[in-house]
Amino acid sequence: MMATSTHAAAEGTPTDLVVVPRAVLEADPHAVLARYRATVPCIRTDDGVVMLLRASDVQALVTDPRTRQVETEFARMRGITSGPLFEFFRQTVLLSNGEVHRRRRAPIARTFAFQVVAALRPRIRDLAEALVAEHGPRGRMNLLADYAAALPARAIALILGLPERDVPDFTRWVYAMSRALTSAWGPEDLPESDEAARRLIGYVEDLVAERRRAPRDDLISALLPSIDEGDPESAAEMRMQIVSLILAGSDTTRAALAIQTGLLLAHRAQWEAVCRDEALIPGAVAEALRFEPAVGSFPRFTLAEIPLEGAVLPAGALLSISTLSAMRDPALYADPDVFDIRRTDHPRWHVVFGGGVHRCLGEALARIELEEGLRALTRRLPDLRLDRPLTVRGSAAIRRVDELPVSWPTTA
Ligand code: HEM
Repeated sequence: MMATSTHAAAEGTPTDLVVVPRAVLEADPHAVLARYRATVPCIRTDDGVVMLLRASDVQALVTDPRTRQVETEFARMRGITSGPLFEFFRQTVLLSNGEVHRRRRAPIARTFAFQVVAALRPRIRDLAEALVAEHGPRGRMNLLADYAAALPARAIALILGLPERDVPDFTRWVYAMSRALTSAWGPEDLPESDEAARRLIGYVEDLVAERRRAPRDDLISALLPSIDEGDPESAAEMRMQIVSLILAGSDTTRAALAIQTGLLLAHRAQWEAVCRDEALIPGAVAEALRFEPAVGSFPRFTLAEIPLEGAVLPAGALLSISTLSAMRDPALYADPDVFDIRRTDHPRWHVVFGGGVHRCLGEALARIELEEGLRALTRRLPDLRLDRPLTVRGSAAIRRVDELPVSWPTTA
């Protein structure tokens, strides 16, 4: 099942890492990670990726100058070497380093400032309420597609000021393109992702041109001064940051909203507690993000050997920083395998949103969507039931949630 090729270096630190077949890990990620975390700080999966397991290392290495973000290597590994998808990987803030990263991040960080996003809460609440009202009389829905996918897409459409009629196409392109960001989807999905990338990038280009003609009070208009139309490469790069925001906030929040609903419904007493007391909502959101995160890891490269307690990370390794593992580490959380929305030991900076210069830019928006998404369900559909248990697949990057049929009694 596993090969333990560990040997001791001269100083007594193991330099060869424990190798775990990817299939073994994916079959039961939490159990496998817990087993290794107790004895070694990292493992190597049989596809060559080195996975960092312990909370203390995860928190330290995210700001360690001996690591850097991966750039187009991830795309190339997936066989994406040209076309609109490749342009996305080449130009996105998410996969860049140093000055290039600062140049890409600063304008969107300014326009996506906390206060601006916080002011959106009432409108996101209305979106969630409207979705529940739309489905309420039917007595059933596929929570993943009908609710969890719809809310982030409508929220970003609101932020960008998209006309209502564009939302269905826009939503389809977003979710088709976002499959390219995660290895939970296979190469057979890439042609559709590429076509969706072409459409979405073109759509954003048109929006920017439209706002240039008639600016409004929205995110794209606020970004116009950062888009230098006199320099086509730089203008294309800035527009790609709008695409990055759209993508980074879709699949992640969709999965998180479905997961938190599934977890709470599976822990019925905690669901009922939230139905009785809205003050429990932020804790429920934080705990669901910890217990079964939508994003299981993020990647880095090691630029040098990095000694850890009990092993040495090799230089030039593709690292998977496992937030999934860190958030079940008993060194950080008491009783980490217990789902408890009242826990008080969440660190000030939630591990699921990463750290350092790449820390999630959309955390405030994600939390508002998740909190308002939960509030509308618990207020309007307290008798909601799962018709099938929640399944979350994958241990790394954005995880994949299967359809989640739910139902509730109707008066009709
Ligand atoms: C539950 C939902 C979310 C989770 C778990 C999540 C998680 C993360 C993580 C772990 C990173 C860091 C990746 C790395 O260091 O390699 C990240 C980056 C990012 N996130 Fe999120 N995210 C979520 C929602 C959002 C939303 C709603 C938006 C915006 C609409 C967003 C925009 C971004 C952007 C633009 C980055 C890149 C930042 C940079 O590289 O400088 N995210 N996110």
